[in-house]
Amino acid sequence: MTLENKEAWGSRVGLVLAMAGNAVGLGNFLRFPAQAIQNGGGAFIIPYLVCFLLMGLPMLYVEWATGRFGGKTGNHSTPYIFGSLDKRAIWKYLGVLGLFTNLGICAYYTYIEAWTMSWAWHSAAGHFMGMNADQVAGFFTSYINLETSEPILMWVLCVGVNTYILSRGLQKGVEMAAKIGMPLLLLFGVILAIRGVTMTAGEQGASFSGVLGLNFLWTPDFSTIWTPKVWLSAAGQIFFTLSLGMGSIHCYSSYVKPKDDIALNAMSAGWMNEFVEVVLGSAIIIPIAVGYLGIDKVAQMTAAGSGLSLGFQTLPYLFTQWGPFLSAAAGIMWFGLLFFAGITSSLAMGTPGLAFLEDRFGWDRRWAAFAFGGAVLLLGIPCVLSQEAFGEFDYWAGTISLVVFSLAEVILFAWVFGMEKGWAEINAGADIKVPIVFKYVIKYVTPVILLVVFVGSLPSIWATIMKPMTFQVALARGLMLGMFLGLLALVHFSDKRKVTP
Ligand code: TRP
Ligand code: TRP
Repeated sequence: MTLENKEAWGSRVGLVLAMAGNAVGLGNFLRFPAQAIQNGGGAFIIPYLVCFLLMGLPMLYVEWATGRFGGKTGNHSTPYIFGSLDKRAIWKYLGVLGLFTNLGICAYYTYIEAWTMSWAWHSAAGHFMGMNADQVAGFFTSYINLETSEPILMWVLCVGVNTYILSRGLQKGVEMAAKIGMPLLLLFGVILAIRGVTMTAGEQGASFSGVLGLNFLWTPDFSTIWTPKVWLSAAGQIFFTLSLGMGSIHCYSSYVKPKDDIALNAMSAGWMNEFVEVVLGSAIIIPIAVGYLGIDKVAQMTAAGSGLSLGFQTLPYLFTQWGPFLSAAAGIMWFGLLFFAGITSSLAMGTPGLAFLEDRFGWDRRWAAFAFGGAVLLLGIPCVLSQEAFGEFDYWAGTISLVVFSLAEVILFAWVFGMEKGWAEINAGADIKVPIVFKYVIKYVTPVILLVVFVGSLPSIWATIMKPMTFQVALARGLMLGMFLGLLALVHFSDKRKVTP
């Protein structure tokens, strides 16, 4: 007998904000701008929008529908949500990837989230005032090189806050955090975006005007659009930003009541994420950085890395040009915004694991939250100690696992469960009429695109495996493998243990 998990969302607003909070994350403000710059600015935007329409939206429907369907049978984690669509054991075991990805990403994600807490505090206290650009950058370097104990303390605190909120339950924890965090995030984002795009050359040391950065991003460049790299990056960003292929949307959706709408809700949350990403995400970090440094310099700075260095090294320095008061305010808003973006996402990564322990082992929510926090601390240690290990987690859990998972789920939904039943699921209780074209896109187009993305990433997987392993990399891979096998064993064990009441 599976234990009935009685939790549900408190309100529609709460659900949509929680789902939007799940999707809106560090990726919207740091990863998106960096991806756009690395892929030639204007060249990126068209593939990005095409991937959103042909892959992002259809997968949102698939995941929301799959999740709500699984919830009807009292299941809230992907092994059993998949299992409710088809009884064959293979799906249940593929569903384990949905637990693996969340835990694996959370291990390094909470660490970046902790940085935002540190940076908000240092901005508020005015610690960046009077530092030159190299000193602000050096502050970051010594921080991630663990020259003080602050990064570790902050990270433990951050995981503690996550654990606490998770332990309060769905409505009083996750939903409340979203209702507080998302409006503040939007407010801070809008203020900073207005500041970014209205900044003009000559103002407080700016050499260029902020709008230049927007033009760069929003002028489609048709000459370089046809490279596979740009398309793979666009597809990867769509996955990452919408939290697709990870099992967390399924989990949130499984708490939607069977007769409640998903068609409109999925669109609301999905479009809210896109608004935050392409409007706010592109209007802060790029315009401000370009305003001071120019496009070439910014492009050169992000060529290799992610948006992390622009966000944590460049921006806090540029803010100091605005004087003590405005720089503290800007720092609090920028890092506060990143913190809210981060925490509403890390809570979403935590929920599937909790649901698994509650549903299958009858654990109390609080103990499940502690177990999750403990697991994150354990898995995060290599990510804190070594950037190489961090990269491994980001690659296997944050990039590869989701492609495999998505391919599996769309095949399960459209071809095994069946598109007729699937379409009926999407439309059950719907408050809008979903265009029929999605039915065919989900059945024929999305699986093919996912297959192409999967095949397209094989060379990179092969190259990664073939590279000689350092100790750190071996340790990270060992831990991930151990976690994956452990989760498989837990799923296996929890089935064997099914005793009649
Ligand atoms: N979508 C989040 C972002 O844009 C990140 C994310 C990745 C995520 N995987 C997730 C969030 C799983 C929740 C669950 O930053
Ligand atoms: N190398 C990653 C990237 O694609 C770094 C990263 C992972 C990251 N997750 C992130 C950066 C979330 C910003 C936000 O940029």
